[in-house]
Amino acid sequence: MGCKFVVVSVFWGILAMSITHAQTNRKFTLKRGFVEEKLRQSIDRYQVLAKRVPLHMFPRSYDVSTDSLIVTRSNSWTSGFYVGSLWYLFEFSGNKSLFEEAGQRMRYLASEQYNTSTHDVGFMLYCSYGNALRITGDKDYGLVLSQGASSLAQRFSNVVGCVRSWDNVDSSKYLVIIDNMMNLELLNWASRYSDDPWLAKIAISHADKTIENHFREDYSSYHVVDYNPTNGAVRRKHTHQGLADESSWARGQAWGLYGYTMMFRDTKEQRYLDQAVQIAEYISNHPDLPEDKIPLWDFNAVGGPDTERDASAAAITAAALLELSTFLSPDAAEKYQLLGEEIIISLSSPRYYANKGENGGFLIKHATGHMPAGSEVDAPLVYADYYYIEALVRYLKLLGDS
Ligand code: GLY
Repeated sequence: MGCKFVVVSVFWGILAMSITHAQTNRKFTLKRGFVEEKLRQSIDRYQVLAKRVPLHMFPRSYDVSTDSLIVTRSNSWTSGFYVGSLWYLFEFSGNKSLFEEAGQRMRYLASEQYNTSTHDVGFMLYCSYGNALRITGDKDYGLVLSQGASSLAQRFSNVVGCVRSWDNVDSSKYLVIIDNMMNLELLNWASRYSDDPWLAKIAISHADKTIENHFREDYSSYHVVDYNPTNGAVRRKHTHQGLADESSWARGQAWGLYGYTMMFRDTKEQRYLDQAVQIAEYISNHPDLPEDKIPLWDFNAVGGPDTERDASAAAITAAALLELSTFLSPDAAEKYQLLGEEIIISLSSPRYYANKGENGGFLIKHATGHMPAGSEVDAPLVYADYYYIEALVRYLKLLGDS
C-alpha cells in the first residue's frame, strides 16, 4: 500500500465518479456506465473461471503461488456463492450461457436442502436457489428452499432462543456465531412462502438474542457466543477467526450489519434498523478504517501499511450499506451510501479488481478467510465476488429508482 497507492486510488476514484442529482435530492456518485462496465467485465472474468471448475464442484479461492483453484463439494458453507453470482450476472445481462451454467451447477447443490448439520444451509441455498427463484419464478426452486428452511429450523433451541451454528463434539457447547444472522433470511422467506409464522418467530428470537449477547457497548460484536444448552445462559464470548476474543473481526462486523439490515427489511421492526445504523456507525467512524475503506482483516489488527485487508468484509459492508440507505431519510442515508460508493470504487480499482486471466478467474483480490489458521490469507474468496456483484446490482437498482 503506501503513497503511490493513494495517488492511483484518487485518480481511479475521479475516473469512476460523477455527481448526479436524483429527483429525490439524492446524490449518486457513481456513473451508471461505470457500474455496468464492471458487471460486464465480471461476466468476462467468470467465463474464465467457469472453464476451470469441475462440474460437480464449487470454486472457493485460488492459490496464486501454485496456480491452483481451490474448490469444494456442495457441503461447504461457500458452495452457493458462485451460482448466486451467475444468477446476478444473468439478471443484469440476459446472457444465456450464464443461465445455463447456473442451472446445471444448481443440481449439485440440491442435496443440501436435507443438511441439518450446519447453520450454513442458509448461505448455501439462499444465495443460489433464492436468487434463482427470484429471477426465474421457477416453483421447483421454491421447494428446495422450503425444505432447506425446515432443515435449518431443526437447529433452533427454545431454551437458548437461537439457531445453533456449529455442531460440536462437546455437547455441553451451544455455539452461535455472528455470521448466523445471514441465515435468518432463508427462514424469513420460508415463513412467507409457507405461511408459517413459526419460522419467522425463530428468526426474530435469534436476532433478538444476538442483540442481547453478541454486541459490546460500542456496537462491535463478538464472533462466537457459547450458550449453555440446558438453561440458555451465556458461558463464554470469544473469537474463532478474529485477532482476539475482545477484538472486532472485520467480516463479523459486516455480517452483523447486513443481517440487521435484512431483518429490518423483512420485519419492519425499528430495533433492527437501529441496530444496523449503530453497526454502520461503528464501522464508518472507526479510526483504523483505512483511507480506501477496505478494512484490515480485524479492526484491531493495526500493524502498518502491509497489514492484510479483508476485501470480502468490504464487499458485504457495501452491499448492506446500499440497502440500509434505502430505509433512511435522504439526510441520514447520505453518509452510508457514500461509504458504500467509496468501497465500490476501491474494489473496482486495479488494486483490488483482478485483470482478466489473473486471480484464477476470481474478481476481487486481497480478502482474508481465516487468519488465525493461516488459511486463505490475502487471497480471492468467492463470497467477496458475490457481495461485490450484489452491491453493483443494488446500485443499479438505486439509480433505476431515481
Ligand atoms: N461464515 C464463515 C466466514 O465468514 O468465514
